[in-house]
Amino acid sequence: MIRVVFNQKGGVGKSSITCNLAAVSAASGRRTLVVDLDPQGNSTHYLMGHPAADLKNNAADFFEQTLSFNMFQKDPIEYIHSSPFDNLFILPSNPELDFLESKLEAKHKIYKLKNALRALENQFDEIIIDTAPALNFYTRSALIATDKVLIPFDCDDFSRQALYTILGELQDIQEDHNDKLEVEGIVVNQFQPRASLPTKLVNELVEEGMPVLPVKLNASIKMKESHQASKPLVYFAPKHALTAQFQELFEVLCEEKVSLETV
Ligand SMILES: Nc1ncnc2c1ncn2[C@@H]1O[C@H](COP(=O)(O)OP(=O)(O)OP(=O)(O)O)[C@@H](O)[C@H]1O
Ligand SMILES: [Mg+2]
Repeated sequence: MIRVVFNQKGGVGKSSITCNLAAVSAASGRRTLVVDLDPQGNSTHYLMGHPAADLKNNAADFFEQTLSFNMFQKDPIEYIHSSPFDNLFILPSNPELDFLESKLEAKHKIYKLKNALRALENQFDEIIIDTAPALNFYTRSALIATDKVLIPFDCDDFSRQALYTILGELQDIQEDHNDKLEVEGIVVNQFQPRASLPTKLVNELVEEGMPVLPVKLNASIKMKESHQASKPLVYFAPKHALTAQFQELFEVLCEEKVSLETV
């Protein structure tokens, strides 16, 4: 299964959700790939630690080789790196992605990611793509390449307004480029069950018929600590409530119970 985590709003939890879902998937024995298309590289740092910026054969290298004619193009698998965690792999980001974007756009390379992921799809059980907080070339490439989109929602009124815009943009991509694209669900993140506003906002979304997923991810300092340690929660805090919520969310998405080998 290939899914993309997307929300144009910054800081709603795209990278945190990508890496923690991927880590639960990997810990359940599935061969799992994270594709980091955000030049900020937060998922790359989270999974690989700080030397991540130096990784050769990264996403920028992959896109760059699509710009020039080469008889011996590298196989997409050559851009995939093992992470320190069993079954968890990454196509790392690089800041060069920013500089390449206009050239890729000008040369209409929007389907290159789709072709690469099709070639990788049967080598991984799950592929999860992290995107920048923008509907840019890379995000559109990802939305064209996948069947499912997860939209993180951080329980704030601005985010609610942003949801309507996002759903409209996804519909445009679906109509123009990818009729298989579907919203898998809205992931409520940074939820504070004791505060009244988040509960009210979420209930209103459900009443409007928005596809809100049944598992809400609580706000917890453990998330920031696990970023700091470059260790997703399933490895950093296996018994924590937020870890259990990620496991439940993954089970909802893959429609089966999973047991985690790491915990
Ligand atoms: N459930 C949570 N509890 C507490 N903090 C969280 C939670 N989810 C995310 N955060 C924190 O919120 C911040 C933003 O999260 P993250 O980087 O995952 O968002 P993003 O949508 O990927 O951001 P960007 O748009 O910049 O790529 C980070 O500091 C992260 O640690
Ligand atoms: Mg991010």
